[in-house]
Amino acid sequence: MSSVNIDVYSEKASCERLLSVHRWTDKLLSFRTTRPAGYRFTAGQFARLGLEIDGQIVSRAYSITSAEQEDQLEYYAIVVPGGQFTTRLAALQPGDPVWVEKLSYGFMTADRFVDGRQLWMLATGTGLGPYVSILQQPDVWQRFDELVVVHGVRQREELAYADKFEQLRQHASQQGWPARLQLLRCMTRDDALPDAPGWLAGRITTLLKEGRLEQATGLPLSVEQTRVMACGNPEMVTEVRELLRERGMGPLRRTGGGQFVTEDYW
Ligand SMILES: Cc1cc2nc3c(=O)[nH]c(=O)nc-3n(C[C@H](O)[C@H](O)[C@H](O)COP(=O)(O)OP(=O)(O)OC[C@H]3O[C@@H](n4cnc5c(N)ncnc54)[C@H](O)[C@@H]3O)c2cc1C
Ligand SMILES: NC(=O)c1ccc[n+]([C@@H]2O[C@H](COP(=O)([O-])OP(=O)(O)OC[C@H]3O[C@@H](n4cnc5c(N)ncnc54)[C@H](OP(=O)(O)O)[C@@H]3O)[C@@H](O)[C@H]2O)c1
Repeated sequence: MSSVNIDVYSEKASCERLLSVHRWTDKLLSFRTTRPAGYRFTAGQFARLGLEIDGQIVSRAYSITSAEQEDQLEYYAIVVPGGQFTTRLAALQPGDPVWVEKLSYGFMTADRFVDGRQLWMLATGTGLGPYVSILQQPDVWQRFDELVVVHGVRQREELAYADKFEQLRQHASQQGWPARLQLLRCMTRDDALPDAPGWLAGRITTLLKEGRLEQATGLPLSVEQTRVMACGNPEMVTEVRELLRERGMGPLRRTGGGQFVTEDYW
């Protein structure tokens, strides 16, 4: 939780503008800001954004969903009931100021995996955001044979970006890039589950434990081939780490080795 004086904050942040807002539901939105001059990030990293609230800057972390080379920055956010930052965020109009810290942050990037042929990207809710950026980078389609996005949400209306993934899959196919992308949609509180491949009922952790993610993709997890990212609800992330450890995997290490990287959103 951070709240700082505007003069102090302006030394490390750039005052940008809100460009557009796309509302997926009453609680979920994607928004775009101008990009600070010289801003650099690697797909999978997050920005820290600041809003002026009662004369102070309140800042929060947001994963970047846009591609590395775009001249705007995009983010995917949930409006938390009573949340200090997101209550203000939800009321912003295009043209309003949004501070963007000049540095980018985080270590959940695909380029850190130096081996393995399958990349699994597990997310609850808005934890999907980093993967939207990662899958817009050509490297990941050339480096892996299999890309699997697993998106866990409460209800169907919260399954954002599915069309974007389909566009990226088509683009990759047109480019002749080798990787295959599978999207698994997992819902926990929706009775209307489509009877179609890629749709699952239950929590990601339960589905992982029961082998149902592997069954749905036809891809057994292996220490040699599988690399995993998990992002979003911290309890989900903790449970995923434990389940992967039971399968002989460990966190990615700077010194080499390891199979997974994770990011907690709170
Ligand atoms: C590394 C990192 C990256 C993040 N990236 C994103 C992102 O891309 N999109 C995003 O929406 N949030 C993201 N967050 C969370 C974000 O920084 C804020 O905490 C969130 O927007 C709530 O701020 P607030 O001030 O409105 O609520 P607060 O008053 O700070 O309330 C926080 C509470 O809201 C809930 N909460 C917070 N974030 C989420 C979430 N994303 N989904 C569900 N429940 C949540 C939790 O119960 C948490 O305790 C990220 C956090 C971290 C640490
Ligand atoms: N009260 C409500 O009805 C309601 C509705 C929407 C949003 N909200 C608010 O919105 C925020 C939550 O947003 P969200 O729905 O995007 O995030 P979330 O609570 O993290 O839920 C997203 C998905 O993650 C699953 N999940 C939760 N804990 C898990 C765990 N330990 N292991 C594996 N999966 C887990 C959820 O399953 P489960 O469904 O099984 O928990 C759900 O499918 C909170 O601030 C909440 O207060 C509240």
